Amino acid sequence: MTEPEPSSVAALSLAETATHPTSKAHEQEINPWDVQAATDEQGNILEFDYEAISKNWDTKLIDAALLERFERVTGHKPHRWLRRGLFFSHRDLHLILDTYERGEGFLLYTGRGPSSDSMHIGHTIPFEFTKWLQDVFDVPLVIMMTDDEKFLFKEKLKQPEVYHYARDNAKDIISMGFDVKKTFVYIDSEFFTSGFNRHFSLNTTEFEKLVTNNQVRGAFGFHGSTNIGSNAFAAKQCVAAFASSYPFIFGIDCKTYHRDAKLAAMPCLIPCAIDQDPYFRLVRENCSRMDQPSPKPALIHSKFLTALQGAGGKMSASNPNSAIFMSDTEKQIKNKINKHAFSGGQETLELHREKGGNPDIDVAYQYLTYFEDDDDKLVQFADAYRKGEMLTGDMKKECITMMMAYVKQFQEAREKVTDEVLEEFMRPRKLEWKGNQNPTMRLNNVEKGLGVAEIGLGKKEGGENIVLGPDGKPMTKNQAKKMAKLAEQERKKKEKAEASAAAKTS
Ligand code: TRP
Repeated sequence: MTEPEPSSVAALSLAETATHPTSKAHEQEINPWDVQAATDEQGNILEFDYEAISKNWDTKLIDAALLERFERVTGHKPHRWLRRGLFFSHRDLHLILDTYERGEGFLLYTGRGPSSDSMHIGHTIPFEFTKWLQDVFDVPLVIMMTDDEKFLFKEKLKQPEVYHYARDNAKDIISMGFDVKKTFVYIDSEFFTSGFNRHFSLNTTEFEKLVTNNQVRGAFGFHGSTNIGSNAFAAKQCVAAFASSYPFIFGIDCKTYHRDAKLAAMPCLIPCAIDQDPYFRLVRENCSRMDQPSPKPALIHSKFLTALQGAGGKMSASNPNSAIFMSDTEKQIKNKINKHAFSGGQETLELHREKGGNPDIDVAYQYLTYFEDDDDKLVQFADAYRKGEMLTGDMKKECITMMMAYVKQFQEAREKVTDEVLEEFMRPRKLEWKGNQNPTMRLNNVEKGLGVAEIGLGKKEGGENIVLGPDGKPMTKNQAKKMAKLAEQERKKKEKAEASAAAKTS
């Protein structure tokens, strides 16, 4: 048995009922099926305390040093959602950067519990971010649509109904622009009965055997009357992080009984909202106990998006005015933002001009921070707002323009996602990707004499480190040096081009 993750045994709820009988105060509650902000004594909803969650669950906050390394290793400026802390926390992201730096592959994995609603921006942002990661790292991606999970956890849902939602939601997700060559989307109820799921199922059963009732009760707060499907479901969401569950993606036969140990050893990166973390603590605790052990999957966690009503509010399908939905018309977007977006401005025009507004709680400004890539422009808006030069109406107008463009682009893409397109994404098949074309660390390491026997690296009979070139043949020290230099030049060129492109758009 491996060391348990420090926080995993504790129940994931941070909530504690207030002891004072008349107080309406309660702490925030975050778990995969329920997310509630804290309230104060008067029952006012407070902002989520993300640092507290990170501390409680022992995740690492994403800091400037990690982002700097991300940029150095990938040659890409970190996405604005990383720069601005929307994706704020991680587990072992640095190990994924090491993997990439060595020129080795990893699996990218995310998912969605399908629901009836047309997706809103709170749903699309994690997928847009995942697509960006896929573009940056050029790795295979699996997207799990958990219709089984939704069915098990929602009393009233029927299986055909939730399967239908899964198809619709999958089309919405595909509209974010995923590359079909590198992406496998699957709906659980369909994939698990397809005949391509043999290794997934073997992994599931093995994992189920490793996890006790007490463990899932500890992790998820289940009790004696929880249905047995819910008790078992976590194993599926967990083994979905093992590349060995999808041999066909790697061109490996999935009909044989034996799973591929090399695939099992492949690292995985999971972008998800922080409420999904309890699932992945379970896999991180148990993955090394599999017959063919897997490394602990790395995670990158997002905050929850701000509802139109402001911090602590929830975007919800049952309240159309709580969010911008991807099916909204231009008119709806305009009305929602004008009427319902919480304003950090002053009550009257005179007061606003005199005292200025507060962009930090202004929802129109917050939404601009989600979608406006230009950091300088945002600083200008915030400054002008604080000074009272920019009015609430001005801010809302900027926001409306931005949101209309985002939704329009989505709707145009969505129209093209036919049933045939969906079927192609869901067809179990070999995927194609390139990974890191310039693995500088491997080369630099050899130069420093640090090379290790990793894929692409080898040792000569005498034990001396050698490096393999792109053709798989050993390179001389000079060739390796040259490659490293070329890679560095390439990186600098890219950096320059990006800087000048960014300068042009601002
Ligand atoms: N349980 C998730 C939900 O209800 C769906 C999911 C499955 C998922 N696998 C995932 C989400 C991996 C993020 C990452 O939405």
